[in-house]
Amino acid sequence: MTSRTFDVGVLVGSLRKQSWSRKLALALRDTAPPTLALEIIEIGAMSMYNFDDEPDPPPAWLDFRNRIRALDALLVVTPEYNRSIPSVLKNAIDVGSRPKGQSAFAGKPAAVISISPGAMGGYGANQHVRQSLACLDVAIMPFPEAYIGGIDRAFGDDGRIAVDSTRAFLDGFMRTFASWVEKLAAERALSR
Ligand code: FNR
Repeated sequence: MTSRTFDVGVLVGSLRKQSWSRKLALALRDTAPPTLALEIIEIGAMSMYNFDDEPDPPPAWLDFRNRIRALDALLVVTPEYNRSIPSVLKNAIDVGSRPKGQSAFAGKPAAVISISPGAMGGYGANQHVRQSLACLDVAIMPFPEAYIGGIDRAFGDDGRIAVDSTRAFLDGFMRTFASWVEKLAAERALSR
């Protein structure tokens, strides 16, 4: 095993101050395996994608694309809006995917976690994130899948995950993700 640390950008699909998705992203940042350095990449300040702006792209788009390019891997933590992706997250994916042929996401390993206060754990959002990232040549970890239901009951006052089964599942998920990132990095190094 390598002792290298991989930079993982976390996209949070909610702008809400008290967002459960953000709370989970922060909890994972503190508990992830030591080979993964998690940092939330803010997506709320980018204007809506408009192809007409490509000749002179907004600085926030350029900054976002550069930050994504510099990453070793991507982690998406998102709620579900109307059985699909929240628009702020879809906008970030669209901005990062362009100009055509220059997607900032290409070749990155990634994992997706969806959350919901409800029982279905954001299944629709999770699948739609996978669908969009797959066509951008993102290597999405296929298994385990992470649909975290009952998120509003998952945290203790200290911001840590208080439900033992959820914490154990997410610890395992992040260990598998660490292996996935390392495996993809090794394959990429071999193919150079
Ligand atoms: C929701 N919510 C929701 N939940 C769900 O499980 N399936 C869904 O399709 C939807 N749809 C939906 C649409 C819109 C516009 C909103 C605002 C909310 C509820 C959602 O899961 C809940 O508000 C989460 O707490 C939002 O995530 P954050 O902000 O806590 O990270």
